[in-house]
Amino acid sequence: MLEKVQEIIEEVRVFKTSKPEDVESFRISMLGKKGKITALFNEFKNVPADQKKEFGRQLNLLKKEAQEKVNLLKSSSDNNKDGEQISSDLTIPGQPYNLGTRHPISIIKNEIIDIFSSIGFSISEGPEIEDDWHNFSALNFPENHPARDMQDTFFISHDLALRTHTSSVQVREMESKKPPIRTISPGRVYRNEAISARAHCFFHQVEGLYIDENVSFGDLKQTLIFFTKEMFGEDAKIRLRPSYFPFTEPSAELDVSCTICSGKGCNVCKYSGWLEIMGCGMVDPNVLINCKIDPEKYTGFAFGMGIERIAQLKYQVNDLRLYSENDLRFLEQFKKANF
Ligand code: PHE
Repeated sequence: MLEKVQEIIEEVRVFKTSKPEDVESFRISMLGKKGKITALFNEFKNVPADQKKEFGRQLNLLKKEAQEKVNLLKSSSDNNKDGEQISSDLTIPGQPYNLGTRHPISIIKNEIIDIFSSIGFSISEGPEIEDDWHNFSALNFPENHPARDMQDTFFISHDLALRTHTSSVQVREMESKKPPIRTISPGRVYRNEAISARAHCFFHQVEGLYIDENVSFGDLKQTLIFFTKEMFGEDAKIRLRPSYFPFTEPSAELDVSCTICSGKGCNVCKYSGWLEIMGCGMVDPNVLINCKIDPEKYTGFAFGMGIERIAQLKYQVNDLRLYSENDLRFLEQFKKANF
């Protein structure tokens, strides 16, 4: 019986083929239901008791060796198959390789990040589901402020909502760090608006915050002039209009000279020569107190802009919905944009 095992081991060892169908018939002839090795297993009961142990051991080794041989032959015949395909016709034209593109929102976001990083701002991120404190209360929103209203905010529970701006991230920064703080917070925000060309239920923002001793409105203005020129070119002009936000005092709206008509007047700027691009102001002392920062010692400025708005002005995209429809005809136009 043991010789029989030896014989089959030899047979397994010398067997060679590169054809997948031969590997399969070899496998069946050895390990299949009626295979030689299976047959030996069936013989086990006829082996004298004193030889059973050795026979069993050898038989298991044989089975393992046969199995490994089949696996080896299989994988090398598979490789051969690929090899044959490659070498069969080297003149077949290559498959076109379709390069993806960055989304315009990502391109603009990265540009904004680059500009502010170059003057020492860090990047901070926070959760999109926010509590009332970080999105509203810490930012000095009065209890009955209309922005808390169901019309603007997607509430999840009494205390949780989808953040309506990334100012919430700045509250988290102020709570967890000591001034000087110089950071920008890019991210997605949500507002309960009917979707149209000019409004969407979500969009993207970059908000900035700078807190230190002696930070003045002049610093804010200089920083925003620097940003605007980097973003829209040396000739871009800015103007600040008084405005209101609960978390800044004084507050302003920043306009940039129209990027389309250079201020002469066109239908994009509604013949005013100016385009509104962000809100800004000096951080309200109440906000500093809420975040345990001493308003006697520190002052700060904050600003916030919509990335879609900047992209719209840079690329003349007039329908906000295009940014989230994933239409390749739209996205492919940004192939040549730098990123
Ligand atoms: N958080 C404001 C918004 O979402 C923007 C803003 C930020 C205004 C900082 C002033 C200062 O509209």
